[in-house]
Amino acid sequence: DKNLIKPAEKFEVKEVRIVTRNIGVIDPRNIEEYIARDGYFALSKALQMKPEEVIEEIKKSGLRGRGGAGFPTGLKWEFTAKAKADQKYIVCNADEGEPGTFKDRLIMEGDPHTVIEGMIIAGYAVGATKGYIYIRGEYYNSVENLRKAIQDAYEYGFLGENILGSGFNFDLTVRLGAGAYICGEETALLESIEGKSGRPRLKPPYPPQVGLFGKPTVINNVETIANVPQIILNGADWYRSIGTPNSPGTKVFCLVGDVNRRGMVELPMGVTVRQVLYGFGGGVRGGRELKMVQTGGLAGTFIGLDKLDTPLDYDSMKNYGVSLGSGVILAIDDSHCVVDIALNVMEFFRHESCGKCTPCREGTRLACEILERMTKFEGTAEDLDYLRKIAEVTADTSFCGLGQSINVPLLSLIDNFREEFLEHVEKTCRANVCKAVPKKP
Ligand code: NAI
Ligand code: SF4
Repeated sequence: DKNLIKPAEKFEVKEVRIVTRNIGVIDPRNIEEYIARDGYFALSKALQMKPEEVIEEIKKSGLRGRGGAGFPTGLKWEFTAKAKADQKYIVCNADEGEPGTFKDRLIMEGDPHTVIEGMIIAGYAVGATKGYIYIRGEYYNSVENLRKAIQDAYEYGFLGENILGSGFNFDLTVRLGAGAYICGEETALLESIEGKSGRPRLKPPYPPQVGLFGKPTVINNVETIANVPQIILNGADWYRSIGTPNSPGTKVFCLVGDVNRRGMVELPMGVTVRQVLYGFGGGVRGGRELKMVQTGGLAGTFIGLDKLDTPLDYDSMKNYGVSLGSGVILAIDDSHCVVDIALNVMEFFRHESCGKCTPCREGTRLACEILERMTKFEGTAEDLDYLRKIAEVTADTSFCGLGQSINVPLLSLIDNFREEFLEHVEKTCRANVCKAVPKKP
């Protein structure tokens, strides 16, 4: 294909496989193959350490939450370890709902024992004897592989009572989600496990202190947990030698959109957007021009071409206004219209808004109304200011992270592509996507 853009050598990137090291290498339904690749060795090592030493190792490693927020994992574990309670829980957030993200699915499908091992270690470290994996119901293969892996882990004595003769007990259960994006929000997820409707709770108190059934609960994303066995096995210093000082380790990225090669890749933290796009993705497909990139999921930032050299780590948002989030990188070429993109994003949030609070429920609806008008060339310049106001008020006053983050995609689109929004007021769409709708007589 003459239009295929070959990756330039200088953009080549080298995969570093920590959490994906077994994917495609072992049969995920065979525990022996996992054990043959040092599986459950980290658990055995951890059980010979004191729980506080395990937490210290995770703290030293600098591991941060891979679900999107980047909260220090060791600190979270410490909060739960220090909380006084008769029962504590470990919950794995496997309700991967971010559009474009599929890394957790592939980790659970391809290497379920890594997740199980990480959870048992977390349980031992904080003093929890029960764990739940809350997983998207649509992830059929992940669910099947996890259930088989849990059954095998019980048979081999890695789960249940007196694990490896240590006196430590840990039970693990899989719970299926039913397709609501909001159930990925950690407190809505807890409500759902408790059998209630998945609506967020007020934070604070945070789950590490008051979580499942009111008890201290560590909630970690799949990728975060999958890092744990390797950190315990190889040590915090080894882990810190990868990535950046403030965001050590790797990140599993999901590259989607208008690139030659889409898929999942594990790279050291700190690689640039350009390196992922061209080094892994092979550039924009069909010989078209890159228009923008969205990082961090649908609630993430849309960036223009001037920000492609931004390093992807947890400080990039702070320093460059680019979000890392769950690691999605969405490439968008010049065949797309910004107003249409904004409408798509807002329609997603309107649909997934749980309706509990007015600003999010009404703000997303109003934003959709305005954007729809613009795509029909019926908008005004004032609509753009109105849209900005809606985004700001919704973000400031919404109850949970869903409504609080809609300003990020919307304002980054308006700020980067204001001119293109205004062209729609002049009844022009440079991408030829929007059209005037004839009025009914
Ligand atoms: P957050 O910043 O409120 O909390 C992050 C984690 O740290 C939570 O587990 C929270 O309980 C804990 N935490 C924060 N402050 C604490 C404190 N003082 N004491 C104890 N624990 C504390 O962020 P949130 O709302 O949990 O997650 C937002 C992220 O989720 C966004 O970055 C977004 O990218 C990501 N996301 C990921 C999705 C996915 O499919 N992976 C879907 C939707 C959003
Ligand atoms: Fe529900 Fe949206 Fe309010 Fe969150 S911000 S509680 S999703 S209505």
